[in-house]
Amino acid sequence: MNSLHYQKNKLFFDQLDLEELSKGITTPFYLYSENLIKQNIKEYISQSNDKTLFCYSVKANSNLSILKLIASQGMGFDVVSMGELYRVIKAGCDTKKVVYSGVGKTRAEIRYALENNILCFNVESEGELFVINDEASAMGTTANISIRVNPDVAVESHPYISTGLKDNKFGITYKNALSLYIKASKLSSLNIIGIDFHIGSQITSIQPFIDSIKSIRSLVSDLKKENINITHIDVGGGLGISYDGEDIVGKADYIKEITDSLRDLNVNILFEPGRSVIGDCGLLVTQIQYIKESKTKNFMIVDASMSELIRPPLYNAFHKITPILKRDKGHKKYDIVGPVCESADFLGKERSMNSEVYDLLVIEDVGAYGFVLSSNYNTRPKPSEYIISNGSIREIRSADTLDQILTNELK
Ligand SMILES: Cc1ncc(COP(=O)(O)O)c(C=O)c1O
Repeated sequence: MNSLHYQKNKLFFDQLDLEELSKGITTPFYLYSENLIKQNIKEYISQSNDKTLFCYSVKANSNLSILKLIASQGMGFDVVSMGELYRVIKAGCDTKKVVYSGVGKTRAEIRYALENNILCFNVESEGELFVINDEASAMGTTANISIRVNPDVAVESHPYISTGLKDNKFGITYKNALSLYIKASKLSSLNIIGIDFHIGSQITSIQPFIDSIKSIRSLVSDLKKENINITHIDVGGGLGISYDGEDIVGKADYIKEITDSLRDLNVNILFEPGRSVIGDCGLLVTQIQYIKESKTKNFMIVDASMSELIRPPLYNAFHKITPILKRDKGHKKYDIVGPVCESADFLGKERSMNSEVYDLLVIEDVGAYGFVLSSNYNTRPKPSEYIISNGSIREIRSADTLDQILTNELK
């Protein structure tokens, strides 16, 4: 959806001329569109009812202003650490709409979540179940839990972002789920409220979700026989976006098919979308520093790198790379690379380009798993983030200064 288009050879994003907009801003920087985020959320909400809760997955993009915006559109949150929960609280969001996932919750994290009255823990192991019970009991409270069950469904995605198979570290195998629920029902400081699954990310079709729901439905009926009645099913996140023209099931169809397939169970349905809320609403703007050509290989060396966007080297992820100024001359193939001292530091390979030194380029669809995965590798400051809101831009995070990077080391 990302709304990029040329007008008289100049690239526009959310109605704004990117060349004008970039004047006076140090590259590289991230740029998001409030309109596009709201449109994505609207598509989700359009098919929801009073039994649906959307818990945006904070890991996709955790900027405080983005969290505030998403909360203002009625979404709750899925967090995986004390830090993410802290962000949600700092953003003034309602912790009663927070689910807490993750395989390694520490006792301190569990206590923090209990103190802040979250909606539910998505429990990922037997050990964690006992620890949550322990901590809740010590605090004289009860913890709402659901167990993350692995439906063992294969999804066509990168192996690093596929999570629903029995070999993955996440969740409980389907075979062991019933017996663990029975154990949980005997622990006095736990309140079983749901079943949870999350099968992976960048999923393009509805089928893997429907296949997972089939197994989950049979678990629900096994649980009923044991007198364990759940009030919600959390179907996780995972809906993909179109990075390179892929066909992706629409958000409204995805919500409708899932809610239809669970309607007769009369339970609340939780969704944990991340990428599909924000992925196609963000750009990374970067400037070409050098062009290096030889008989065998051409490189465009830009001022963004794997420190600001690690998805290409980490997942071999494809992002379109588009010049802000369309030039009228022949194209050649270039690898678009950064200045970091790693051969893995590339943003795109074999791209047909005709830009010149100091031209600006945008790396598209980096709203999700972009800035959040950035690092200070090579002592590079994390970049600034801006958002287009009501036709003008606003800085929502300033770039690190070098002194900030060193602060914790000044002993
Ligand atoms: C438990 C859980 N829920 C939700 C998500 C969000 O997934 P996506 O961004 O693909 O929607 C993830 C991502 O890894 C996850 O692990």
